[in-house]
Amino acid sequence: MSRITVDLQRPVGAVDPRIFGQFIEHLGRCIYGGIYDEGSPLSDAKGFRTDVLKAAGDLRAPILRWPGGNFVSNYRWTDGIGPKDERPRRLELAWHGEESNRFGTVEFIEYCRTLGTEPYICLNLGTGTPDEAAAWVEYCNGTGNTHWANLRRSHGYDEPFNVKYWGLGNEMYGHWQIGVKTADEYVRFATEFARIIHLIDPTVELVSCGHTGWQDWDATVIDGLAKYVRYHSIHLYTGSDDHWTNVIEPEQADRAIRMTRSHIERTRLNQHIRHEIGIAYDEWNVWFRNKPSPLEEQYTLSDALAVATFLNIFLQHADTVKIANLAQMVNAIAPIFTRPDGLFLQTIYHPIRLYAEHTGTTSLDCYVVGDENEHGRIEAALVAANGRAKIRDRGPFTDIHAAATRSEGGASMTLTVVNRHPTEATTVPLLLVNGTAAGVADVSVVTGADPYVRNSFEQPDNVGVTETRVDLAGSHLSLTLPPCSVSVYRIPLGA
Ligand code: AHR
Ligand code: AHR
Repeated sequence: MSRITVDLQRPVGAVDPRIFGQFIEHLGRCIYGGIYDEGSPLSDAKGFRTDVLKAAGDLRAPILRWPGGNFVSNYRWTDGIGPKDERPRRLELAWHGEESNRFGTVEFIEYCRTLGTEPYICLNLGTGTPDEAAAWVEYCNGTGNTHWANLRRSHGYDEPFNVKYWGLGNEMYGHWQIGVKTADEYVRFATEFARIIHLIDPTVELVSCGHTGWQDWDATVIDGLAKYVRYHSIHLYTGSDDHWTNVIEPEQADRAIRMTRSHIERTRLNQHIRHEIGIAYDEWNVWFRNKPSPLEEQYTLSDALAVATFLNIFLQHADTVKIANLAQMVNAIAPIFTRPDGLFLQTIYHPIRLYAEHTGTTSLDCYVVGDENEHGRIEAALVAANGRAKIRDRGPFTDIHAAATRSEGGASMTLTVVNRHPTEATTVPLLLVNGTAAGVADVSVVTGADPYVRNSFEQPDNVGVTETRVDLAGSHLSLTLPPCSVSVYRIPLGA
Protein backbone atom coordinates (compact mmCIF):
# COMPACT_ATOMS: atom_id res chain seq x y z
CA MET A 1 0.00 0.00 0.00
CA SER A 2 1.25 3.50 -0.82
CA ARG A 3 1.46 6.24 1.84
CA ILE A 4 1.60 9.96 1.07
CA THR A 5 3.45 12.54 3.18
CA VAL A 6 3.26 16.30 2.63
CA ASP A 7 5.44 18.78 4.52
CA LEU A 8 3.51 22.04 4.65
CA GLN A 9 6.59 24.01 5.72
CA ARG A 10 8.88 22.70 3.03
CA PRO A 11 8.26 24.55 -0.24
CA VAL A 12 9.82 23.19 -3.43
CA GLY A 13 9.28 26.41 -5.35
CA ALA A 14 6.73 28.81 -6.76
CA VAL A 15 4.46 27.17 -9.32
CA ASP A 16 4.86 28.90 -12.66
CA PRO A 17 1.40 28.93 -14.28
CA ARG A 18 3.12 28.67 -17.66
CA ILE A 19 3.47 24.92 -17.01
CA PHE A 20 -0.14 24.81 -18.20
CA GLY A 21 0.85 26.10 -21.63
CA GLN A 22 -0.49 24.73 -24.91
CA PHE A 23 0.87 24.26 -28.42
CA ILE A 24 -0.72 24.60 -31.87
CA GLU A 25 1.01 23.44 -35.04
CA HIS A 26 0.09 23.60 -38.70
CA LEU A 27 -0.52 19.86 -38.75
CA GLY A 28 -3.61 17.91 -39.74
CA ARG A 29 -6.71 19.65 -38.34
CA CYS A 30 -5.08 21.46 -35.43
CA ILE A 31 -5.27 24.93 -36.99
CA TYR A 32 -7.52 24.51 -40.05
CA GLY A 33 -10.75 22.84 -38.93
CA GLY A 34 -9.62 23.03 -35.31
CA ILE A 35 -9.09 26.47 -33.86
CA TYR A 36 -9.70 28.19 -37.21
CA ASP A 37 -12.63 27.40 -39.47
CA GLU A 38 -13.49 30.17 -41.91
CA GLY A 39 -17.14 30.22 -42.88
CA SER A 40 -18.26 27.80 -40.16
CA PRO A 41 -21.45 28.81 -38.32
CA LEU A 42 -19.50 28.02 -35.14
CA SER A 43 -16.79 30.58 -35.97
CA ASP A 44 -16.61 34.27 -35.11
CA ALA A 45 -15.88 37.02 -37.62
CA LYS A 46 -12.16 36.26 -37.47
CA GLY A 47 -12.72 32.59 -38.28
CA PHE A 48 -12.00 31.38 -34.74
CA ARG A 49 -14.18 28.47 -33.65
CA THR A 50 -16.02 29.79 -30.60
CA ASP A 51 -16.74 26.33 -29.16
CA VAL A 52 -13.01 25.60 -29.26
CA LEU A 53 -12.23 28.97 -27.68
CA LYS A 54 -14.57 28.16 -24.80
CA ALA A 55 -13.11 24.67 -24.21
CA ALA A 56 -9.54 25.97 -24.61
CA GLY A 57 -10.25 28.94 -22.35
CA ASP A 58 -11.21 26.58 -19.53
CA LEU A 59 -7.71 25.06 -19.79
CA ARG A 60 -6.33 28.48 -18.73
CA ALA A 61 -3.14 28.27 -20.80
CA PRO A 62 -0.96 31.31 -20.03
CA ILE A 63 1.32 30.66 -23.03
CA LEU A 64 0.70 29.26 -26.51
CA ARG A 65 3.49 27.86 -28.73
CA TRP A 66 3.22 28.14 -32.53
CA PRO A 67 3.63 27.40 -35.51
CA GLY A 68 5.51 24.11 -34.98
CA GLY A 69 6.87 21.58 -34.30
CA ASN A 70 8.37 20.04 -37.38
CA PHE A 71 6.27 22.36 -39.53
CA VAL A 72 8.30 25.41 -38.60
CA SER A 73 11.49 24.04 -40.12
CA ASN A 74 10.08 24.67 -43.61
CA TYR A 75 7.91 27.69 -42.81
CA ARG A 76 8.37 31.05 -44.51
CA TRP A 77 6.64 33.37 -42.10
CA THR A 78 6.38 36.08 -44.77
CA ASP A 79 3.93 33.82 -46.68
CA GLY A 80 1.45 34.24 -43.81
CA ILE A 81 1.09 38.05 -43.69
CA GLY A 82 -0.82 40.61 -45.74
CA PRO A 83 -4.13 40.18 -47.58
CA LYS A 84 -5.27 36.58 -47.16
CA ASP A 85 -6.31 36.03 -50.74
CA GLU A 86 -2.86 37.01 -51.97
CA ARG A 87 -0.97 34.62 -49.72
CA PRO A 88 0.76 31.75 -51.54
CA ARG A 89 -0.27 28.11 -51.08
CA ARG A 90 2.84 26.07 -50.43
CA LEU A 91 3.88 22.47 -50.32
CA GLU A 92 4.27 21.53 -46.69
CA LEU A 93 7.16 19.11 -46.43
CA ALA A 94 7.25 18.18 -42.74
CA TRP A 95 3.82 16.52 -42.75
CA HIS A 96 3.38 16.13 -46.53
CA GLY A 97 0.50 18.54 -46.91
CA GLU A 98 -0.35 21.89 -48.39
CA GLU A 99 -0.31 25.12 -46.45
CA SER A 100 -2.82 27.82 -47.38
CA ASN A 101 -1.15 30.42 -45.14
CA ARG A 102 -4.57 31.88 -44.27
CA PHE A 103 -3.61 31.59 -40.62
CA GLY A 104 -0.36 33.48 -40.08
CA THR A 105 1.33 35.81 -37.64
CA VAL A 106 -1.41 38.38 -37.07
CA GLU A 107 -4.05 35.66 -36.86
CA PHE A 108 -1.92 33.95 -34.21
CA ILE A 109 -1.53 37.16 -32.22
CA GLU A 110 -5.27 37.84 -32.49
CA TYR A 111 -5.95 34.29 -31.34
CA CYS A 112 -3.66 34.73 -28.33
CA ARG A 113 -5.44 37.96 -27.40
CA THR A 114 -8.87 36.36 -27.72
CA LEU A 115 -7.80 33.40 -25.62
CA GLY A 116 -5.92 35.58 -23.13
CA THR A 117 -2.53 33.90 -23.53
CA GLU A 118 1.04 34.93 -24.30
CA PRO A 119 2.44 34.11 -27.75
CA TYR A 120 5.53 31.90 -27.96
CA ILE A 121 6.91 31.69 -31.49
CA CYS A 122 9.26 28.95 -32.56
CA LEU A 123 11.72 30.07 -35.25
CA ASN A 124 12.69 28.23 -38.42
CA LEU A 125 16.25 26.98 -37.99
CA GLY A 126 15.75 24.43 -40.76
CA THR A 127 15.40 26.31 -44.05
CA GLY A 128 15.33 29.70 -42.32
CA THR A 129 18.10 32.24 -41.96
CA PRO A 130 19.08 34.65 -39.20
CA ASP A 131 17.97 37.48 -41.47
CA GLU A 132 14.44 36.06 -41.83
CA ALA A 133 14.21 35.49 -38.08
CA ALA A 134 15.38 39.05 -37.44
CA ALA A 135 12.70 40.35 -39.78
CA TRP A 136 10.03 38.33 -37.97
CA VAL A 137 11.07 39.75 -34.60
CA GLU A 138 11.09 43.27 -36.06
CA TYR A 139 7.66 42.73 -37.67
CA CYS A 140 6.25 41.65 -34.29
CA ASN A 141 8.10 43.90 -31.88
CA GLY A 142 9.61 46.78 -33.86
CA THR A 143 8.76 50.34 -32.83
CA GLY A 144 10.96 52.36 -35.20
CA ASN A 145 10.28 53.86 -38.62
CA THR A 146 11.71 50.81 -40.39
CA HIS A 147 10.54 48.41 -43.06
CA TRP A 148 9.20 45.42 -41.09
CA ALA A 149 7.63 47.49 -38.32
CA ASN A 150 6.01 49.68 -40.97
CA LEU A 151 4.76 46.61 -42.82
CA ARG A 152 3.01 45.50 -39.62
CA ARG A 153 1.47 48.97 -39.33
CA SER A 154 0.30 48.75 -42.94
CA HIS A 155 -1.48 45.50 -41.97
CA GLY A 156 -3.45 47.42 -39.36
CA TYR A 157 -1.34 47.00 -36.23
CA ASP A 158 0.22 50.24 -35.02
CA GLU A 159 1.24 48.86 -31.67
CA PRO A 160 3.93 46.17 -31.46
CA PHE A 161 2.82 42.66 -30.56
CA ASN A 162 5.58 42.40 -27.94
CA VAL A 163 6.17 38.72 -28.46
CA LYS A 164 8.45 37.88 -25.56
CA TYR A 165 9.20 34.19 -26.09
CA TRP A 166 11.11 32.93 -29.14
CA GLY A 167 12.31 29.37 -29.64
CA LEU A 168 15.58 28.73 -31.44
CA GLY A 169 14.28 25.95 -33.67
CA ASN A 170 12.48 22.67 -33.14
CA GLU A 171 14.03 19.20 -32.61
CA MET A 172 17.03 20.14 -34.74
CA TYR A 173 18.77 16.88 -33.71
CA GLY A 174 16.16 14.67 -35.39
CA HIS A 175 16.58 12.90 -38.74
CA TRP A 176 12.92 13.84 -39.44
CA GLN A 177 13.69 17.52 -39.09
CA ILE A 178 14.22 19.62 -42.20
CA GLY A 179 17.70 21.07 -41.70
CA VAL A 180 18.80 18.48 -39.11
CA LYS A 181 22.13 19.40 -37.54
CA THR A 182 24.79 18.07 -35.22
CA ALA A 183 24.83 19.68 -31.78
CA ASP A 184 27.94 21.71 -32.64
CA GLU A 185 26.46 22.88 -35.95
CA TYR A 186 23.26 23.83 -34.15
CA VAL A 187 25.07 25.82 -31.46
CA ARG A 188 27.03 27.73 -34.09
CA PHE A 189 23.89 28.46 -36.17
CA ALA A 190 21.61 29.28 -33.22
CA THR A 191 24.22 31.68 -31.84
CA GLU A 192 23.85 33.80 -34.99
CA PHE A 193 20.10 33.91 -34.47
CA ALA A 194 20.40 34.75 -30.78
CA ARG A 195 22.83 37.58 -31.35
CA ILE A 196 20.89 39.29 -34.13
CA ILE A 197 17.58 38.91 -32.28
CA HIS A 198 19.00 40.46 -29.15
CA LEU A 199 20.31 43.38 -31.22
CA ILE A 200 16.76 43.99 -32.46
CA ASP A 201 14.98 43.42 -29.17
CA PRO A 202 17.11 42.78 -26.07
CA THR A 203 13.99 42.15 -23.97
CA VAL A 204 12.91 38.92 -25.66
CA GLU A 205 13.51 35.61 -23.90
CA LEU A 206 15.06 32.87 -26.02
CA VAL A 207 14.62 29.12 -25.71
CA SER A 208 17.36 26.74 -26.80
CA CYS A 209 16.34 23.61 -28.65
CA GLY A 210 16.98 20.56 -26.52
CA HIS A 211 16.38 16.85 -26.97
CA THR A 212 15.03 14.57 -24.23
CA GLY A 213 17.16 16.22 -21.55
CA TRP A 214 19.44 13.23 -20.99
CA GLN A 215 21.28 13.30 -24.34
CA ASP A 216 24.77 14.60 -25.12
CA TRP A 217 22.91 17.04 -27.39
CA ASP A 218 21.43 18.73 -24.32
CA ALA A 219 24.80 19.10 -22.58
CA THR A 220 26.44 20.58 -25.70
CA VAL A 221 23.56 22.95 -26.44
CA ILE A 222 23.24 24.20 -22.86
CA ASP A 223 26.98 24.74 -22.70
CA GLY A 224 27.01 26.58 -26.03
CA LEU A 225 23.90 28.73 -25.69
CA ALA A 226 23.49 29.35 -21.95
CA LYS A 227 24.62 32.94 -22.15
CA TYR A 228 21.87 33.76 -24.65
CA VAL A 229 18.87 31.79 -23.40
CA ARG A 230 16.41 31.87 -20.50
CA TYR A 231 15.02 28.40 -21.09
CA HIS A 232 16.20 25.08 -22.45
CA SER A 233 13.44 23.11 -24.14
CA ILE A 234 13.00 19.36 -23.84
CA HIS A 235 10.36 17.04 -25.32
CA LEU A 236 8.85 13.73 -24.22
CA TYR A 237 6.11 11.57 -25.67
CA THR A 238 5.15 8.36 -23.92
CA GLY A 239 2.52 5.68 -24.38
CA SER A 240 1.66 2.01 -24.63
CA ASP A 241 -1.36 -0.20 -25.13
CA ASP A 242 -0.36 -1.84 -21.85
CA HIS A 243 -1.90 0.09 -18.97
CA TRP A 244 0.96 -0.27 -16.49
CA THR A 245 3.57 0.70 -19.06
CA ASN A 246 1.41 3.61 -20.14
CA VAL A 247 1.01 5.07 -16.66
CA ILE A 248 4.61 4.47 -15.55
CA GLU A 249 6.39 5.82 -18.65
CA PRO A 250 5.81 9.52 -17.82
CA GLU A 251 8.13 8.99 -14.84
CA GLN A 252 10.90 9.42 -17.39
CA ALA A 253 10.08 13.13 -17.24
CA ASP A 254 11.40 13.17 -13.68
CA ARG A 255 14.77 11.85 -14.85
CA ALA A 256 14.80 14.23 -17.83
CA ILE A 257 14.22 17.23 -15.58
CA ARG A 258 16.86 16.22 -13.05
CA MET A 259 19.48 15.63 -15.75
CA THR A 260 18.69 18.86 -17.61
CA ARG A 261 18.82 20.76 -14.37
CA SER A 262 22.28 19.34 -13.65
CA HIS A 263 23.58 20.43 -17.06
CA ILE A 264 22.18 23.90 -16.45
CA GLU A 265 23.66 24.21 -12.96
CA ARG A 266 27.06 23.02 -14.08
CA THR A 267 27.12 25.46 -17.00
CA ARG A 268 25.93 28.41 -14.94
CA LEU A 269 28.61 27.75 -12.37
CA ASN A 270 31.44 27.22 -14.83
CA GLN A 271 30.52 30.13 -17.11
CA HIS A 272 29.57 32.51 -14.26
CA ILE A 273 26.09 32.98 -15.72
CA ARG A 274 23.93 35.04 -13.42
CA HIS A 275 20.57 34.81 -15.13
CA GLU A 276 18.37 31.85 -14.37
CA ILE A 277 17.73 29.20 -16.99
CA GLY A 278 14.55 27.19 -16.62
CA ILE A 279 13.24 24.16 -18.43
CA ALA A 280 10.62 24.69 -21.12
CA TYR A 281 8.99 21.26 -21.52
CA ASP A 282 7.53 22.60 -24.71
CA GLU A 283 6.19 19.33 -26.12
CA TRP A 284 4.88 16.56 -23.90
CA ASN A 285 1.96 14.13 -24.07
CA VAL A 286 0.89 10.56 -24.62
CA TRP A 287 1.41 9.81 -28.32
CA PHE A 288 2.05 6.38 -29.78
CA ARG A 289 -0.94 5.31 -31.87
CA ASN A 290 -1.28 7.67 -34.82
CA LYS A 291 2.16 8.55 -36.13
CA PRO A 292 1.57 9.90 -39.64
CA SER A 293 -0.42 13.14 -39.91
CA PRO A 294 -3.13 13.94 -38.83
CA LEU A 295 -2.16 12.33 -35.46
CA GLU A 296 -5.79 12.05 -34.32
CA GLU A 297 -5.08 10.05 -31.19
CA GLN A 298 -8.22 8.93 -29.32
CA TYR A 299 -7.37 9.03 -25.64
CA THR A 300 -8.23 6.45 -22.98
CA LEU A 301 -8.74 6.80 -19.24
CA SER A 302 -5.27 5.27 -18.82
CA ASP A 303 -3.87 8.15 -20.91
CA ALA A 304 -5.59 10.66 -18.61
CA LEU A 305 -3.69 9.10 -15.69
CA ALA A 306 -0.44 9.37 -17.65
CA VAL A 307 -1.08 13.05 -18.38
CA ALA A 308 -1.81 13.71 -14.70
CA THR A 309 1.48 12.01 -13.83
CA PHE A 310 3.38 14.37 -16.15
CA LEU A 311 1.70 17.34 -14.46
CA ASN A 312 2.50 15.99 -10.98
CA ILE A 313 6.15 15.75 -12.02
CA PHE A 314 6.18 19.34 -13.31
CA LEU A 315 4.77 20.43 -9.94
CA GLN A 316 7.33 18.36 -8.04
CA HIS A 317 10.01 20.28 -9.99
CA ALA A 318 8.36 23.68 -9.78
CA ASP A 319 11.73 25.33 -9.13
CA THR A 320 13.03 24.09 -12.50
CA VAL A 321 10.14 23.67 -14.93
CA LYS A 322 9.02 27.19 -15.85
CA ILE A 323 7.15 26.52 -19.07
CA ALA A 324 5.44 23.42 -20.43
CA ASN A 325 3.31 23.12 -23.56
CA LEU A 326 0.99 20.19 -24.07
CA ALA A 327 1.41 18.89 -27.62
CA GLN A 328 -1.09 19.75 -28.95
CA MET A 329 -4.28 21.69 -28.17
CA VAL A 330 -6.85 20.64 -30.79
CA ASN A 331 -7.38 17.49 -32.90
CA ALA A 332 -3.73 16.48 -33.36
CA ILE A 333 -2.79 14.51 -30.19
CA ALA A 334 -5.13 16.81 -28.32
CA PRO A 335 -7.61 17.16 -25.46
CA ILE A 336 -10.17 18.93 -27.68
CA PHE A 337 -11.56 17.06 -30.70
CA THR A 338 -13.69 18.78 -33.32
CA ARG A 339 -15.79 18.06 -36.35
CA PRO A 340 -17.60 20.69 -38.43
CA ASP A 341 -20.67 20.71 -36.16
CA GLY A 342 -19.09 20.53 -32.71
CA LEU A 343 -16.49 19.06 -30.42
CA PHE A 344 -16.02 16.58 -27.59
CA LEU A 345 -13.57 16.62 -24.73
CA GLN A 346 -11.11 13.77 -24.71
CA THR A 347 -10.26 11.95 -21.46
CA ILE A 348 -7.00 13.90 -21.02
CA TYR A 349 -8.87 17.20 -21.07
CA HIS A 350 -10.26 16.66 -17.58
CA PRO A 351 -7.07 16.36 -15.48
CA ILE A 352 -5.47 19.24 -17.40
CA ARG A 353 -8.48 21.49 -16.76
CA LEU A 354 -8.68 20.52 -13.08
CA TYR A 355 -4.96 21.00 -12.45
CA ALA A 356 -4.88 24.38 -14.20
CA GLU A 357 -7.88 25.51 -12.18
CA HIS A 358 -6.95 24.23 -8.72
CA THR A 359 -3.17 24.11 -8.42
CA GLY A 360 -1.83 26.42 -5.72
CA THR A 361 0.97 28.94 -5.98
CA THR A 362 3.68 27.05 -4.08
CA SER A 363 4.71 23.47 -4.66
CA LEU A 364 5.23 21.46 -1.46
CA ASP A 365 7.48 18.57 -0.63
CA CYS A 366 5.25 15.54 -1.22
CA TYR A 367 6.40 11.97 -1.38
CA VAL A 368 4.87 8.56 -1.77
CA VAL A 369 6.33 5.43 -0.21
CA GLY A 370 5.11 2.00 -1.28
CA ASP A 371 5.65 -1.48 0.07
CA GLU A 372 7.53 -4.49 -1.27
CA ASN A 373 4.39 -6.28 -2.47
CA GLU A 374 3.31 -3.27 -4.44
CA HIS A 375 6.76 -2.72 -5.99
CA GLY A 376 7.03 -6.37 -6.98
CA ARG A 377 3.52 -6.54 -8.39
CA ILE A 378 4.06 -3.46 -10.59
CA GLU A 379 7.46 -4.59 -11.78
CA ALA A 380 6.04 -8.02 -12.67
CA ALA A 381 3.31 -6.32 -14.71
CA LEU A 382 5.90 -4.18 -16.54
CA VAL A 383 8.16 -7.16 -17.24
CA ALA A 384 5.22 -9.23 -18.48
CA ALA A 385 4.31 -6.50 -20.96
CA ASN A 386 7.79 -5.44 -22.06
CA GLY A 387 10.40 -8.02 -21.06
CA ARG A 388 13.07 -7.12 -18.54
CA ALA A 389 15.42 -5.47 -21.04
CA LYS A 390 12.90 -2.80 -21.94
CA ILE A 391 12.27 -1.64 -18.37
CA ARG A 392 14.29 1.54 -18.64
CA ASP A 393 12.78 3.35 -15.71
CA ARG A 394 14.19 3.56 -12.30
CA GLY A 395 11.55 2.31 -9.90
CA PRO A 396 10.48 1.03 -7.50
CA PHE A 397 7.03 2.10 -8.57
CA THR A 398 3.93 2.66 -6.50
CA ASP A 399 0.22 2.47 -7.20
CA ILE A 400 -0.12 6.10 -6.19
CA HIS A 401 1.49 9.16 -7.76
CA ALA A 402 0.93 12.53 -6.09
CA ALA A 403 1.90 16.19 -5.91
CA ALA A 404 0.90 18.94 -3.49
CA THR A 405 0.68 22.71 -3.65
CA ARG A 406 -0.59 25.34 -1.26
CA SER A 407 -2.62 28.42 -2.01
CA GLU A 408 -1.35 31.97 -1.75
CA GLY A 409 -1.37 32.74 1.96
CA GLY A 410 -1.55 29.07 2.89
CA ALA A 411 -5.26 28.77 3.72
CA SER A 412 -5.58 25.57 1.72
CA MET A 413 -3.62 22.92 -0.10
CA THR A 414 -4.33 21.05 -3.30
CA LEU A 415 -3.38 17.39 -3.52
CA THR A 416 -3.38 15.91 -7.01
CA VAL A 417 -3.32 12.15 -6.75
CA VAL A 418 -3.36 9.33 -9.30
CA ASN A 419 -4.44 5.78 -8.42
CA ARG A 420 -2.86 3.71 -11.16
CA HIS A 421 -4.35 0.43 -10.05
CA PRO A 422 -6.64 -0.57 -12.93
CA THR A 423 -9.25 -2.44 -10.89
CA GLU A 424 -8.84 -1.78 -7.15
CA ALA A 425 -10.01 1.13 -5.06
CA THR A 426 -7.61 1.93 -2.27
CA THR A 427 -7.56 3.81 1.01
CA VAL A 428 -4.30 5.70 1.30
CA PRO A 429 -2.86 7.24 4.47
CA LEU A 430 -1.95 10.92 4.06
CA LEU A 431 0.33 12.41 6.69
CA LEU A 432 0.54 16.19 6.92
CA VAL A 433 3.74 17.41 8.56
CA ASN A 434 3.85 20.90 10.09
CA GLY A 435 0.15 21.57 9.67
CA THR A 436 -3.33 20.13 9.85
CA ALA A 437 -6.40 19.77 7.70
CA ALA A 438 -9.37 21.67 9.02
CA GLY A 439 -12.72 20.98 7.53
CA VAL A 440 -14.49 19.88 4.43
CA ALA A 441 -12.42 19.23 1.31
CA ASP A 442 -13.77 19.61 -2.21
CA VAL A 443 -12.74 16.69 -4.37
CA SER A 444 -12.91 16.36 -8.16
CA VAL A 445 -12.46 12.83 -9.49
CA VAL A 446 -11.74 11.75 -13.07
CA THR A 447 -12.48 8.10 -13.71
CA GLY A 448 -14.43 5.68 -15.89
CA ALA A 449 -15.44 2.05 -16.33
CA ASP A 450 -11.99 0.66 -17.17
CA PRO A 451 -8.51 1.85 -18.25
CA TYR A 452 -9.28 1.59 -21.96
CA VAL A 453 -12.53 3.51 -22.06
CA ARG A 454 -12.61 6.59 -24.36
CA ASN A 455 -14.86 9.52 -25.02
CA SER A 456 -16.36 10.13 -28.47
CA PHE A 457 -19.02 12.24 -30.18
CA GLU A 458 -21.52 9.47 -29.42
CA GLN A 459 -20.36 8.91 -25.84
CA PRO A 460 -18.74 12.16 -24.67
CA ASP A 461 -19.04 11.42 -20.94
CA ASN A 462 -17.56 7.95 -20.54
CA VAL A 463 -14.78 9.73 -18.69
CA GLY A 464 -15.80 12.90 -16.90
CA VAL A 465 -15.46 14.68 -13.58
CA THR A 466 -17.40 13.83 -10.42
CA GLU A 467 -17.48 16.38 -7.59
CA THR A 468 -17.67 15.25 -3.96
CA ARG A 469 -16.87 16.60 -0.52
CA VAL A 470 -15.17 14.81 2.36
CA ASP A 471 -14.46 15.67 5.99
CA LEU A 472 -10.73 15.84 6.61
CA ALA A 473 -9.41 16.96 9.99
CA GLY A 474 -6.04 16.66 11.71
CA SER A 475 -2.71 15.51 10.37
CA HIS A 476 -3.28 11.74 9.98
CA LEU A 477 -5.78 11.52 7.16
CA SER A 478 -6.97 8.83 4.85
CA LEU A 479 -8.09 9.18 1.26
CA THR A 480 -10.32 6.71 -0.55
CA LEU A 481 -9.39 6.59 -4.22
CA PRO A 482 -11.40 4.81 -6.92
CA PRO A 483 -9.54 2.43 -9.25
CA CYS A 484 -7.86 4.01 -12.27
CA SER A 485 -8.55 7.58 -11.20
CA VAL A 486 -7.17 11.09 -10.89
CA SER A 487 -8.38 13.01 -7.82
CA VAL A 488 -7.89 16.69 -7.08
CA TYR A 489 -8.38 17.46 -3.36
CA ARG A 490 -8.73 21.05 -2.12
CA ILE A 491 -8.06 20.75 1.60
CA PRO A 492 -8.59 23.69 3.98
CA LEU A 493 -5.70 24.02 6.44
CA GLY A 494 -5.77 24.83 10.15
CA ALA A 495 -3.64 27.36 11.94
O1 AHR B 1 3.74 17.33 -31.88
C1 AHR B 1 3.98 16.53 -32.99
C2 AHR B 1 5.45 16.56 -33.42
O2 AHR B 1 6.22 15.92 -32.46
C3 AHR B 1 6.08 17.92 -33.53
O3 AHR B 1 5.84 18.53 -34.74
C4 AHR B 1 7.53 17.63 -33.38
O4 AHR B 1 8.25 18.68 -32.82
C5 AHR B 1 7.56 16.38 -32.55
O5 AHR B 1 8.36 15.41 -33.14
O1 AHR C 1 -1.33 37.95 -26.97
C1 AHR C 1 -0.70 38.93 -27.66
C2 AHR C 1 -0.53 40.12 -26.79
O2 AHR C 1 -0.22 41.22 -27.59
C3 AHR C 1 0.55 40.01 -25.79
O3 AHR C 1 0.11 39.51 -24.57
C4 AHR C 1 1.01 41.42 -25.65
O4 AHR C 1 2.33 41.48 -25.18
C5 AHR C 1 0.86 41.93 -27.03
O5 AHR C 1 0.67 43.30 -27.10
